Amino acid sequence: MNSKQKNCPKKPLTRFITDDDNCWQLNQYKSFGGYEGLQQALTLSGSAVLDEIKESNLRGRGGAGFPTGLKWSFVPQGDDAPHPKYMIVNADEMEPGAFKDRLLLEKTPHQIIEGLIIGGYTLDADIGYIFIRGDYYTAIERIELALKECYNNNLLGRNILGSGFNFEIHIHTSAGRYICGEETALINSLEGKRANPRAKPPFPQVAGLWGKPTIVNNVETFCNLPHILNFGATWFKSLGRFKDAGTKIFGVSGRVKTPGLWELPMGTPIGEIIENYAGGMCDGYKLKGYLPGGGSTDFLLEKHLDTPMDYDEIGKQRSRMGTGTIIVLDDKYCPVAMVLNLVKFFAQESCGWCTPCRDGLPWAAVLLEKIEQGKGELADIQQLEDLCKFAAPGNTFCALAPGAVEPLQSALVFFRVDFEQHIEQQSCPYCNSDNLEDGDDK
Ligand SMILES: Cc1cc2nc3c(=O)[nH]c(=O)nc-3n(C[C@H](O)[C@H](O)[C@H](O)COP(=O)(O)O)c2cc1C
Ligand code: SF4
Repeated sequence: MNSKQKNCPKKPLTRFITDDDNCWQLNQYKSFGGYEGLQQALTLSGSAVLDEIKESNLRGRGGAGFPTGLKWSFVPQGDDAPHPKYMIVNADEMEPGAFKDRLLLEKTPHQIIEGLIIGGYTLDADIGYIFIRGDYYTAIERIELALKECYNNNLLGRNILGSGFNFEIHIHTSAGRYICGEETALINSLEGKRANPRAKPPFPQVAGLWGKPTIVNNVETFCNLPHILNFGATWFKSLGRFKDAGTKIFGVSGRVKTPGLWELPMGTPIGEIIENYAGGMCDGYKLKGYLPGGGSTDFLLEKHLDTPMDYDEIGKQRSRMGTGTIIVLDDKYCPVAMVLNLVKFFAQESCGWCTPCRDGLPWAAVLLEKIEQGKGELADIQQLEDLCKFAAPGNTFCALAPGAVEPLQSALVFFRVDFEQHIEQQSCPYCNSDNLEDGDDK
């Protein structure tokens, strides 16, 4: 496939975003080359598009980094393939610390829709859904308007752009549970059932929504597709600074000078993101640790700052890229309180299916609260370690519980002294700190 080398953008995902409040509309998107990727795709066969996506090395941006082309290749093709086939955009985004999809949803709804139509064309799918967090009000409103624009401009509906391809898209607002973001729980929820994860196999690619072949991908994953089609797999691979291809919306929250989101090459070192883009720590605060990929990833330390934001490289440091939204812990915030806050959230969001999650996470919260309040015993630390092991991958039905204990298990290693000090002093060493700001939840 020809790559249009001349105008190859360095920030394909965010170049549509301008200060103009109306930057999300079709005319603006088109003025930046919007829907050219779809036009390119429609000149090719579905299998040729799939080959290009495989060649690009795009990995899913929803957390696990599964190769997108490989996932799609499991969907049955050909005249005997079951229909309707479904493609779903996972826009649930309820992970603590994650806010990257919100930017794309609010500012570039057409980019997501274009990616979804390309996905539908590639796999000969019939219906697309955008499953979106219910309280992303602005995004919902804009996506609804963007869908109308598409139907009015023959970008959706029958015989799209004269290609003979028919595709429709519906928006579905989530009832507001974190577990609805797990792809099989999402499918159950979309069917009107309780959002419990499903047993796998069968995988959704073969038997998903209403038993038909279904693909679920993250918002940001879909956003990459128009550009891969437009500029080619070789260009896409050249964007990364390490092994992983493309760019990524990285974020930083916590006590840094300029928290926010930035589109940067895959493989950008963690320290560069925190220092150069988030402006480094606020005056008077030091970096104690950070969760590199959001609230369900293991802590890393200052010594890991040179690690590239690359799925395998972060894995080598025993953490995960996750959503790529870094949560910073400073030296004046109690790590026990931070972990307690996260575990409480995950315990509340358990669907209740498996014992280590349903009973283990609330019990971990009880123990952490006890330690945080200065009422803990050393045996509580051992119990917390045991609870982390019970919730390890393979012991539960889905990845909620294993993810929930990642910050805890790493805090027990890296910040063990803090846990022990709470117990020895029978109080929180951070509580007397004069550095707590009004409204800090300690
Ligand atoms: C508890 C839980 C919540 C999840 N929430 C989301 C979410 O909000 N958005 C998302 O894209 N993936 C989420 N995932 C991952 C999805 O199950 C799925 O792997 C992902 O949507 C696949 O997209 P990708 O291949 O493009 O990464 C969640 C997983 C778990 C276990
Ligand atoms: S790990 Fe938790 S959320 Fe996942 S299936 Fe088990 S109980 Fe439900």
